[in-house]
Amino acid sequence: MAQRYVMSIDQGTTSTRCILFDQRGRLAAVSQREHHQYFPKPGWVEQDAVEIWRNVDRIVPRALSEAGISGTDVVALGIANQRETSVIWDRHTGAPVGHAIVWQDIRTEELVRELAHKPGAEKIRERCGLPLATYFSAPRIRWMLDTIPRLRERAERGDVLFGTMETWLIWNLTGGTDGGVHVTDVTNASRTLLMNLATLSWDDDLLAFFDVPRQMLPEIRPSTQIYGKTRRVVPGIKIAAALGDQHAALFGQTCFSRGETKCTYGTGSFLLMNTGTTLVRSTHGLLTTIGYQVAGERVVYALEGSIAVTGSLVQWFRDSLGLINSAPEIETLARTVEDNGGCYIVPAFSGLFAPHWRSEARGVIAGLTSYITKGHLARAVLESTAWQTREVVDAMNADSGLRSTTLKVDGGMTADHLLMQLIADVLDIPVMRPMVAETVSLGAAYAAGLAVGYWPDLEGLRRNWHLAARWNPQMDAGHREAEFTNWKRAVELTFNWIK
Ligand code: G3P
Repeated sequence: MAQRYVMSIDQGTTSTRCILFDQRGRLAAVSQREHHQYFPKPGWVEQDAVEIWRNVDRIVPRALSEAGISGTDVVALGIANQRETSVIWDRHTGAPVGHAIVWQDIRTEELVRELAHKPGAEKIRERCGLPLATYFSAPRIRWMLDTIPRLRERAERGDVLFGTMETWLIWNLTGGTDGGVHVTDVTNASRTLLMNLATLSWDDDLLAFFDVPRQMLPEIRPSTQIYGKTRRVVPGIKIAAALGDQHAALFGQTCFSRGETKCTYGTGSFLLMNTGTTLVRSTHGLLTTIGYQVAGERVVYALEGSIAVTGSLVQWFRDSLGLINSAPEIETLARTVEDNGGCYIVPAFSGLFAPHWRSEARGVIAGLTSYITKGHLARAVLESTAWQTREVVDAMNADSGLRSTTLKVDGGMTADHLLMQLIADVLDIPVMRPMVAETVSLGAAYAAGLAVGYWPDLEGLRRNWHLAARWNPQMDAGHREAEFTNWKRAVELTFNWIK
């Protein structure tokens, strides 16, 4: 019988990728397209959902032709996506009512401040595992309902639909206005502020609190399940999984046991720890979220530490300060010095996410003297990612009562050896990177392949994980703790900057 493949679509913040994987989890073809980012006002970040859909329409056939196969050789499709980014569209025309509002967008800061004083605000975290923050979908839905003329009326009549990007793509792929399936998966739903973590359904009190009509919301399904078949782009492929991208990375890293932790280092960085079937409520500034749910099985929970700015600080260093020409040069520049020279950078560009959740925080560079060179600044840029990781791992250990003994890493920044060494040093545990670095796509593919029996079970997937690189801690304990104290002092400086 001819070789068959699993397809994944990773709809990320800056681009969309289609990858084909074989049964051993090896890449057979990749096709990718970037989409535009719109910044209409300070703090606003938007994308065009139609452009993203058109990109999918292009990259899927291209990946198939690169692999020299047709749609019938694909056993299943899994989708991973940037989370929290929200789009609302007309179910009769398929046209979005405006641009999608991206997870980094902070236009709802004022609204969130107002909502924090409303009765019921104190119950939110307990119900859905999330703090009330601009990061999640519900305030964005509410903002659109409040500001787009007659949108609320249309939503109440059931004429418009809400979705995060997997919902938008599944609806379009399964027929759009001609019978498209309107679904989301538990991991994506767990990022809206509207899903009850214990019942895995939309919570009436939360819907009332945010004033969001239930009619516009998708049906919540497990992460692995056949949602429908594609009727557009390449017809006949089973859509068998959807996961938020960070949850997909947890799956792709095969973190299937309690206590296993991964971090994906990209524009922002996201650590997830599998906490098994136990719902761990955080008291240390983390999010309680869904790790994944295999159809017919109990849901697996996770603790998440989301860090808003890591790779994007390197981009800022390159594009706004012009101190390097390409992102990889940061490592070369940082290696020109022995240490940070007493300088610390805290990149609170849009407030600080985990474990602080201070939207009013603003970035600082602390400890400047005339001794500081651009090499020291480069080092402080990399160290900021390491210390932010440390803060989250400490919170995870405290919340879960478990202790991370290794950290599995993936994402673009893992190519930086100095950074990976710094992370191992400040965590005092080994950092490990697998052979297949595309863990988000791989996780979506694994979940879809599992749903159709292409892979038999989780243990089979685990056997596909092979170590590519490992960094062991080398830093002296006294030095580590002294540096951590300095970092924490720099973090304090970011608070109450704007009165
Ligand atoms: O929560 C936002 C996250 O899902 C974005 O991930 O990799 O698309 O930037 P990424």
